[in-house]
Amino acid sequence: MKVRIDVLRQKNPLEKSYVQSFEYEYEDKSTTVAKALSDINKQDIIKDTEGQKADKIRWECSCMQKKCGACAMRINSLPSLACDKRLSELGNIIKLEPLKKFPVIADLTVDRSVMFEALKTAKVWFEKNAQPNERRTETVHEASRCLQCGCCLEICPNFAADMRFKGFAAAVPLTRLIAEASEDEKKRIFASYSMYFYEGCGKSLACRDICPAGIDSEFLMVNSNAAAIWKRKRR
Ligand code: SF4
Ligand code: SF4
Ligand code: FES
Repeated sequence: MKVRIDVLRQKNPLEKSYVQSFEYEYEDKSTTVAKALSDINKQDIIKDTEGQKADKIRWECSCMQKKCGACAMRINSLPSLACDKRLSELGNIIKLEPLKKFPVIADLTVDRSVMFEALKTAKVWFEKNAQPNERRTETVHEASRCLQCGCCLEICPNFAADMRFKGFAAAVPLTRLIAEASEDEKKRIFASYSMYFYEGCGKSLACRDICPAGIDSEFLMVNSNAAAIWKRKRR
């Protein structure tokens, strides 16, 4: 099978972006976008569909098994993991773009440090030793599957990098802390969840349908909203 892959390219943040197209042939139906990008970059001389010599395509990857979140990009306009998306499910022309909510470094690589800074701002950690809470293992298990890939931030209508609202990527680890917090730490963690997530979230649940890890955002939000907001207000 033959596909055309249109890549939105940008040498560096200061230069203009442009689309460059590549032809790619594959036989195995399970071939992913990540495999195609690796194969294109492996060639001694890379040529685009016009026959022009092209530079290697800059993109990020690590595990190639949907476990690290590094290969997140827009594939046919939706945020996805390149190692998760099969070419056979994407049509004959495949559009690859960097995530748009983060600054571009080059081609398909972006600077997602704002997502990691959000975890520091919201202080997503225990300050004292945690005691495992047997009654909450389902929430903890669900939250622990987050890859910090940023796809939920990309799709979120309420998230922008410079806002107090930190999006679902920051809320997920907070939901885990809410489930396991000791009485001493609950106040701080509940306040963080409220300020950096609950107050800015429009409850559209776009983040539920896009998450490549299949995290049930509705389940996590319902439990955390109940514990951190509603039950607290009734006290
Ligand atoms: S919740 Fe899902 S989409 Fe959001 S960062 Fe975690 S794994 Fe990625
Ligand atoms: S429910 Fe909607 S507004 Fe809230 S984090 Fe998810 S996508 Fe964003
Ligand atoms: S390379 Fe790790 S999730 Fe795709």
